Amino acid sequence: MPEFQLSVNGARFSVTAEADTPLLWVLRDYLGLTGTRFGCGQGLCGACTVHLDGMPMRSCSLPLSAVGTQKITTIEGISAAGLHRVQEAWIAEQVPQCGYCQSGQIMSAVALLRDSPNPSDEEIDAAMQGNICRCGTYQRIRKAIKRAAEMPGD
Ligand code: FES
Ligand code: FES
Repeated sequence: MPEFQLSVNGARFSVTAEADTPLLWVLRDYLGLTGTRFGCGQGLCGACTVHLDGMPMRSCSLPLSAVGTQKITTIEGISAAGLHRVQEAWIAEQVPQCGYCQSGQIMSAVALLRDSPNPSDEEIDAAMQGNICRCGTYQRIRKAIKRAAEMPGD
């Protein structure tokens, strides 16, 4: 099997796996980063969202061979110290219900706020539409994103 060099959350990893292994399974099974979730496995729900060079990507449908030198960030790596402001806002607004979709929701929200520091409702809806929540926490997600926008941090 081929060997791949990955940059994940600022650290270098060497992974030996089939080239078509989805990145999600490399993160969870090879690297033990289980904060990224499996939902649909078909790029439809957003539960598996990570960042590649800062862009939200569905790791369930991204083969390992497509990662190349792009820097991967998972929910475990969004803040160098303590909680990211989006996570703090999520707690303050008591967003999660079952929690299953939430790491993917947070990854999309972090990317949105980096590109759009004070997003409108329409911008939030557009950025988050690929992240499905079966518990229907969408209103609290929107409130938490607006709360996070008012907080200091990256
Ligand atoms: S698990 Fe990847 S989009 Fe649903
Ligand atoms: S909190 Fe349950 S699926 Fe979103």
